[in-house]
Amino acid sequence: MRKVYVLNGPNLGRLGTRQVDVYGATSYADLVALCERTGRDLGLEVTVRQTDAEHELIGWLHDAADEQAAVVLNPAAWSHYSYAVRDACAMLRGPLVEVHISNIHAREEFRQHSVVSAVATGVICGLGVDGYRLALHHVATLAAG
Ligand code: DQA
Repeated sequence: MRKVYVLNGPNLGRLGTRQVDVYGATSYADLVALCERTGRDLGLEVTVRQTDAEHELIGWLHDAADEQAAVVLNPAAWSHYSYAVRDACAMLRGPLVEVHISNIHAREEFRQHSVVSAVATGVICGLGVDGYRLALHHVATLAAG
């Protein structure tokens, strides 16, 4: 069974109460349930995590690299400036789908560039939490191919 880590960066644990006009009313617990349900339906082994500590995310990315796992990653604010997260992503040996709930290109200038995107397999943004479901479908398609 294909192993997939769904990893979330800072402040995403506050989904459902955080800037609901931007990120929607789905809670983080609902997001976890959505990813786990989607993974079950697709025959993927999905592990969902969130952290506000950069070193913790980097450690999880190292584990994913060692396990050749696929990663669905919302790096949140780290997307825009963390070369350390980007470097860890560059070491991955499975597919990496970068997800943003909001359309970062339609927001403040500092959000319009992600330093992670260049090392990602692909990027989904602006589709709300449905982006995670779509990312998992893509991983499952790759695993089947
Ligand atoms: C985000 C967009 C980022 O700019 C922001 O810092 C986040 C969430 C998104 O999912 O739309 O925390 O990655």
